[in-house]
Amino acid sequence: MLPKSAFIRGTATVTTNPETSIAPDYNGPSYDEIVAIRKKNLGPSLKHNFKTPLLIHNGKMQWLFDNNGKRYLDLFGGIVTVSVGHCHPKVNAALKNQVETLWHTTNIYLHPKIHEYAEKLASKMPGNLKTVYFVNSGSEANDLAMLLARLYTKNFDILTFRNAYHGMSPYTMGLTAHSTWRFSLPGVNNGIQHVQNPNPYTGKWGGKNCRDSIIQTMRNCDCLPTECKATEYYFQDLEEVFRYSIPVGKCAGMFAESIQGVGGSVQFTKGYIKKAAELVRKNGGIFISDEVQTGFGRTGDYFWGFESHDIVPDIVTMAKGIGNGFPLAAVVTTPEIAESLTQASIFNTFGGNPLASAVGIAVLDVIEEEKLQENSLTVGNYFLKGLDELRSKFRVIGDVRGQGLMIGAEFVADRDERLPLSREDFCKIWEHCKDLGVLFGQGGFYGNVLRIKPPMCVNKNDVDLALDVLERSIKAHI
Ligand SMILES: Cc1ncc(COP(=O)(O)O)c(C=O)c1O
Repeated sequence: MLPKSAFIRGTATVTTNPETSIAPDYNGPSYDEIVAIRKKNLGPSLKHNFKTPLLIHNGKMQWLFDNNGKRYLDLFGGIVTVSVGHCHPKVNAALKNQVETLWHTTNIYLHPKIHEYAEKLASKMPGNLKTVYFVNSGSEANDLAMLLARLYTKNFDILTFRNAYHGMSPYTMGLTAHSTWRFSLPGVNNGIQHVQNPNPYTGKWGGKNCRDSIIQTMRNCDCLPTECKATEYYFQDLEEVFRYSIPVGKCAGMFAESIQGVGGSVQFTKGYIKKAAELVRKNGGIFISDEVQTGFGRTGDYFWGFESHDIVPDIVTMAKGIGNGFPLAAVVTTPEIAESLTQASIFNTFGGNPLASAVGIAVLDVIEEEKLQENSLTVGNYFLKGLDELRSKFRVIGDVRGQGLMIGAEFVADRDERLPLSREDFCKIWEHCKDLGVLFGQGGFYGNVLRIKPPMCVNKNDVDLALDVLERSIKAHI
């Protein structure tokens, strides 16, 4: 057991912010009591990270504290949700202020916050993406986007990528294309096709010129830096799906994460998304960008992930980082598409409630005032380069990828064949990092991808610490 609020250091220097280095006391139920309640009163399908789950009771910016007073660097941000920092003072203040003013009325009355927020959020969007529907979760946002796509186009068929994650509601479960996240129910896949994933690392085609990233795969391909042939091959495959599986001219839409999140921070081959969006539109459909993980400056170069694909989608869905941990999500679209929801009544009790809207406004302000998009770029590039150095030292790291602070490192058993490291071996390294005070995420279909998507306030000292800890953990187990 580490001493209170200490953590192991190697070469890394550590920031000594007194706010975040003093472990707060824990006065809640004991660890054993919590485990017993979880077993007795919470659903058995709830999963936890690590063999012995952490009991986290306090968070400050990029730091989390457990019941023993141990501090952790949080590189997963509550699954890409804590965008500007745990308990960020400005967001806290906005929420406290709203708590004292008005909690809830629903939208049967006018209340100011939803309007202030809708205007502010819409100002962040390009083109004619000016109409906002507020909801409470990413699944709800994608549910609504599916409905909008079908109502607006009057078509039914929707495309997503294999390895995509778009939610777990009965409607969006069909969009999600991981067998591990699917229940066997009639109708889940009704009208949904999962197309080949243009993944330059483990996909059929792709290599060292195929990604829009400062770090490329180590895979050989015959693409040129200016011409990605892999994109052409994947695109031909998509054309075949249209040829054989979609009623002619009757596509409702296509969903894509701008970088796949749950699937392991997977980037697509260069130029594919733009070509796919054009093909979908030619066939009567609309293009939906799921920015649940990639939005709000995380990818560094742009505020929205879709901008790096050089497209303006017809619908954008957002959740997670939008509320820094407060339940809030949104669907933004054009006035024409939004109009299709007037064909019947649609209602969401909490969508855009005053508390959520106050938080959403504060999150946008903090991103701007603290230049968090710029920080994502600088610190993210620093992280990517550091991971690339580790890749050159350890063959167990097969790939390093991402943009800004949306990063993945894929662990392999065989680098030449790109075979995944077993979950068991991966977890040894991952757990060791946790023991040394750094929390990484886990993802990818085989659970062999280290996911790095921290609050966007992390700094280079934090990265040094994380790289140091990762290196020690790899050395301890490989
Ligand atoms: C890209 C993406 N879309 C949608 C969702 C669903 O969001 P929620 O869990 O808030 O329903 C997730 C959740 O991880 C996600 O990563």
